[in-house]
Amino acid sequence: MSDAHRTRGAGAPEDETRAHHRLDSLSPRRRFDEVECTISHLLRHPHPALKGRRYGEALLQGLAARRIGPGRDGVLEIGGGAGHVAECALRGDAGPFTGVPWISLDLSPRLLRSQRQRLLDAAAAQGAPPRWRGIRADAMDLPVRRFDGLLLANEVIADLPVQGGTNTGAIEVVREIARILAPSAAAVLIEFGGDFPPSPIELVAGAGAGRHVEWSIDFRQLREAARGAGLDVEQVPLHELLEADLSVRCASYTDLWRLRRLARCEVFAAPASEVRRRFPWLSRLLLLELPPLGSPRWPDASAKGGFAQLFHALILRQRAAVSA
Ligand SMILES: C[S@@+](CC[C@H](N)C(=O)[O-])C[C@H]1O[C@@H](n2cnc3c(N)ncnc32)[C@H](O)[C@@H]1O
Repeated sequence: MSDAHRTRGAGAPEDETRAHHRLDSLSPRRRFDEVECTISHLLRHPHPALKGRRYGEALLQGLAARRIGPGRDGVLEIGGGAGHVAECALRGDAGPFTGVPWISLDLSPRLLRSQRQRLLDAAAAQGAPPRWRGIRADAMDLPVRRFDGLLLANEVIADLPVQGGTNTGAIEVVREIARILAPSAAAVLIEFGGDFPPSPIELVAGAGAGRHVEWSIDFRQLREAARGAGLDVEQVPLHELLEADLSVRCASYTDLWRLRRLARCEVFAAPASEVRRRFPWLSRLLLLELPPLGSPRWPDASAKGGFAQLFHALILRQRAAVSA
């Protein structure tokens, strides 16, 4: 296993975002409700836009439909956050991923503890032995020789270093994948970005909590790095992988932020009808938008694009040998 405290390159100063995650002590609730509200967090409960499935179930079923399976080793998840995707595999319908061994690799001690607790509780509720294992390590330095299964990083690679307009950290992860991926295995990197240079986003909650910078991904750089490392590359819009119904209207993060100043409600992309039924007066007073899932204003009304426009999955496999 690698030493999580090691900085990359002799004497090089540690990247600030890396240090932020390595020293993370924020509660997972604050982190994902207030600092970095991921799509998988907003859609972590069964949702009508996902045919009543949770994000993790829709994702793993979508990967299975693309002939990606758990192989011999199960799943290696990098940056599992609060552990919702792993939980779906343990007690939801995740197709061939249901109940498979799951290794979660993360830099944050706080999040690893929370994932462990979530997965132990879920296993106890199922009366099943926990098949989850946590490893504290860096995505850019994987402590694994070979992996035959699914390697998944859901909204993680934007946290990795960028130097001189290049997503150097994400490219490093792609090279690590090329090093460890077994011939029949696949890796899936999900993130926001596009065919344009990386740009920074500062994330922070009240009183400066959780402040750190993430960078959008230049998918051109990643595709090129992957091909250069001998991988086959497929890029799919995330909403297609999830088979999401983009016409379903639901609470955006912006709606929830407004609502939560005056009322108690969970940070979840609740369907518009439910929000209006629960908060008939406030939804009018606050002019809640409750946009369709496919709107560029979901999940964030102030961003340049949304889930349907900016989120992609890069699917990587070892390049098949060409027979003579
Ligand atoms: C934005 S969160 C995403 C969490 C989760 N996958 C989700 O979709 O909600 C980023 C995750 O990556 C982890 N992380 C950040 N930098 C990392 C690194 N260099 N190596 C390993 N994990 C890292 C964080 O601790 C966190 O769990």
